[in-house]
Amino acid sequence: MVVAAGFSLRGQDIMAKNYRCAVVGATGAVGREMVRMLEERNFPVSELRLFASERSEGKALGFRGKDVPVEVLKEDSFEGQGIEFLLFSAGSKISKEYAPRAVAAGGVVIDNSSAWRMDKDVPLVVPEVNADALGAGKRLIANPNCSTIQMVQVLSPLHKRARIKRVVVATYQAVSGAGQKAVQELDAQIRAFVDGNKPPRPFVFPHQIAFNCIPQIDVFLENGYTREEIKMVNETRKIMGEPEMALTATCVRVPVYCGHSEAVNIEFEKELTAEGARDILSRTPGVAVVDDTNALKYPMAIDAAGRAETFVGRIRRDGSVKYGLNLWVVSDNLLKGAALNAVQIAEEIVRRNLS
Ligand code: A2P
Repeated sequence: MVVAAGFSLRGQDIMAKNYRCAVVGATGAVGREMVRMLEERNFPVSELRLFASERSEGKALGFRGKDVPVEVLKEDSFEGQGIEFLLFSAGSKISKEYAPRAVAAGGVVIDNSSAWRMDKDVPLVVPEVNADALGAGKRLIANPNCSTIQMVQVLSPLHKRARIKRVVVATYQAVSGAGQKAVQELDAQIRAFVDGNKPPRPFVFPHQIAFNCIPQIDVFLENGYTREEIKMVNETRKIMGEPEMALTATCVRVPVYCGHSEAVNIEFEKELTAEGARDILSRTPGVAVVDDTNALKYPMAIDAAGRAETFVGRIRRDGSVKYGLNLWVVSDNLLKGAALNAVQIAEEIVRRNLS
């Protein structure tokens, strides 16, 4: 059972109207979680439509005890259908082409791809951090990158208290962030090792991911960073409304199925003790502090998987600068990093009467 700590909007509490909803990319790693989140959080759905590619023709997914057929996405899929909320997670190409069609057909799109995130007219939203970006008339909303969401949840309240000067982050990202096929790839490689066979050639990742760490997520850019690393920088600045914030990232894929971990080093302008940060974060909606090194308790991906909260621990002073802290931040990349955040955005739009 997933419960979003400190973020208590629930369908039955706040919403009188029911909405026609759709998930585009419903058969994918995130799409399936979107369907599950709509059900589990009791979003007021009057009808749910599911879309994927022709590969999924004939499939169905369970929703509220019934099988909902998966439809093949077509140019005219949304026209005249009266679909009011559409959650997209079928990749940037599909979002670029189909999100405008969905908006033109009268829907509100919450898009999990990177297609629209840096568009100045498109709000990029983590509801606990910048829900106010959801202005009236905004019908296309971008869901941030998974590694960005969990980091800004922690950075934002600390920034308010002590003003961040610079952030250095290294990520340890789960394979499910690269989709269902990536999960199958790790599975196949592990099985081959266990059975004493030669592992199959990688087809999703550039190298073997089993028993390995790959310091490349997405493609390399001319400046030597990967696109994922630059997404973390640009998206964090946009969400936090700090276009000049100094931030640098190294993103690494690790052989974990679910849950992204991040080592975050923060330099502040003002003093903030580890105890002070612990106190702020323990009162931050959506964040849970797990930080008891005497009991060997700290956030871990295996504990965060399936949970709604973003967990933070190993909070300690960085003595190499005047005011600095180190933190370890872990969250389920498919939930708060994707599907849950998207559904929370939809809830917030309904709550604010913006749809
Ligand atoms: P399908 O399962 O039919 O390929 P993931 O991120 O786990 O790889 O999932 C991607 C999602 O996007 C899947 O639901 C996939 O559907 C969907 N998808 C990919 N290409 C298309 C397309 N051309 N039209 C519609 N849906 C697509």
